[in-house]
Amino acid sequence: MTENQSHRLSVAPMMDWTDRHCRVLHRLMTRRAMLYTEMVTAPAVVHGDRARLLGYSEVEHPVALQLGGSDPAELRAAVRLALPHGYDEINLNVGCPSDRVQSGCFGAVLMERPALVADCVAAMLEAADVPVTVKCRIGVDDQDPEVVLPDFLERVSAAGVRHFVIHARKAWLQGLSPKENREIPPLDYGLVLRMKAAFPHLTICINGGVTSLDQARGFLAAGLDGVMIGRAAYHDPGSVLIGADALWGDGPGLDAVAVVEAMMPYVAAHLAQGGRLHQITRHMLGLFHGRPGARGWRRVLSEGASRPGAGLELIAQALAEVTGQAVGAG
Ligand SMILES: Cc1cc2nc3c(=O)[nH]c(=O)nc-3n(C[C@H](O)[C@H](O)[C@H](O)COP(=O)(O)O)c2cc1C
Repeated sequence: MTENQSHRLSVAPMMDWTDRHCRVLHRLMTRRAMLYTEMVTAPAVVHGDRARLLGYSEVEHPVALQLGGSDPAELRAAVRLALPHGYDEINLNVGCPSDRVQSGCFGAVLMERPALVADCVAAMLEAADVPVTVKCRIGVDDQDPEVVLPDFLERVSAAGVRHFVIHARKAWLQGLSPKENREIPPLDYGLVLRMKAAFPHLTICINGGVTSLDQARGFLAAGLDGVMIGRAAYHDPGSVLIGADALWGDGPGLDAVAVVEAMMPYVAAHLAQGGRLHQITRHMLGLFHGRPGARGWRRVLSEGASRPGAGLELIAQALAEVTGQAVGAG
């Protein structure tokens, strides 16, 4: 499969959300979409508990590791250390506006330093045996995106990156929380489309505010190589991910009830290793979004899953809220 095809749809990197349990869940709904990890900083990879930070299940492929950092040597080292884990892609975060990230000169603030980003990706490419990609914004603060975005793409692609994911809004580095920075700066989809026209040889994926597969289809039809969906995929995976494989011409996979049933062995294995139910079910709360029984499903799981000893029977009980089947509370 070419790089372009595997990215027709992807699930965005989201800290605290797209952990390995979440990705296993998402993979049951789409065999095709590229799944991104939460951002892991290069210093954490170099100095931290790599088994915990980088471990994942084989079923998650294709899966991309997102790194945060701005020191070329450290990013190169992080890529080398990540290689044995077998990720399908390594992505550099040039879009995340959080304070913590800014203070380390990671993320969106790097939009102001394209030459440094070029050095970073060149160093990563020296070590990588898989594609190195970049996720960026259209600009930050008072930058003019029409000027800085093409310049950024030019310089970073000259260093060897062929694939960009563009979150189609600026990050305002002062005064907005990370959450506000995903909502308040206006989206400019037109600019991202113009970048694809200006750089037809690059793989350009669009991100920001996409909430449906129909919207994704529209962007693909308009010539973009892929669409990355974050919040909608997390909160309403039944609409966004079940059925997503049709973008590759594949038939539908499991429905939401079958997804829950298919999660059971994974949950059982997690519990058997001493894990907590809540660590997995918190990602499943949106599974029946908009369907009868969705509220009961959420309530049963949110109230019960953190209790000591909560197990598979709680999932069965929550599922009964949706399917209407009588089950014992276990
Ligand atoms: C809870 C949360 C955590 C996020 N963490 C990251 C991150 O680690 N790296 C990153 O590049 N973007 C991160 N983002 C931004 C998303 O990847 C995405 O760019 C943004 O949510 C816009 O896409 P959407 O409108 O489809 O959600 C995060 C977003 C959310 C909601």
